[in-house]
Amino acid sequence: LFARPCEFFHGAQNISQLPVSDAPEVAFAGRSNVGKSSLINALTGQKSLARASSEPGRTKQLNFFDLGGRLVLVDMPGYGYAKAAKSVKEDWQGMMFDYLRGRPNLRRVVLLLDARVETKASDREVMDLFDKAAINFQVVLTKCDDVKPKAEEARYREVAAEMSRHPAAHPVVLPTSSQTGRGIPELRAELAAFAEE
Ligand code: GTP
Ligand code: MG
Repeated sequence: LFARPCEFFHGAQNISQLPVSDAPEVAFAGRSNVGKSSLINALTGQKSLARASSEPGRTKQLNFFDLGGRLVLVDMPGYGYAKAAKSVKEDWQGMMFDYLRGRPNLRRVVLLLDARVETKASDREVMDLFDKAAINFQVVLTKCDDVKPKAEEARYREVAAEMSRHPAAHPVVLPTSSQTGRGIPELRAELAAFAEE
């Protein structure tokens, strides 16, 4: 599936601009700068498909990528970016929540958590929303190339334990690195299960 070409086909700045589609979708959510766009590039093997940047708040709309006509990947704006204007944050979050709650073809949300830092209140809010709306989600730990093995192990255990308390969570937490490619084949295999025949 991921050997097929992937291309950007739609950007939505608000909920009325969502593409009409019944193709299965997988969305990538997480705090600003956690590595969502980089992960999409690693999965598709296309380095500059989704715009990644060291400047938080890079992705400002919902970006839709078509993967060989069989699966749609959705790059979401990050949440929890302290420096963004309050009104801007509220717009992004409102749109994100509206999209997540009201998208019948959404099969899974990949929730990215930074392997190097603790789970933040904003991450917990999002997980609670997933539980309430019964949105199937799976946690991926990002930037595992930038953490010592012991610290990663501790973080992994903490997150895996937390998942057992979330009814909507997939129990398997995947350690990944978009830089080294670690965990990418495993995530591809997970997501391939949602693709159209
Ligand atoms: P927003 O669109 O602002 O919400 O950010 P994002 O979650 O899309 O993050 P993005 O992919 O733009 O990456 C943010 C920064 O993290 C960039 O400087 C990336 O180079 C860096 N980064 C992403 N993935 C990795 C990784 O696996 N390892 C390391 N060390 N850095 C990474
Ligand atoms: Mg981004």
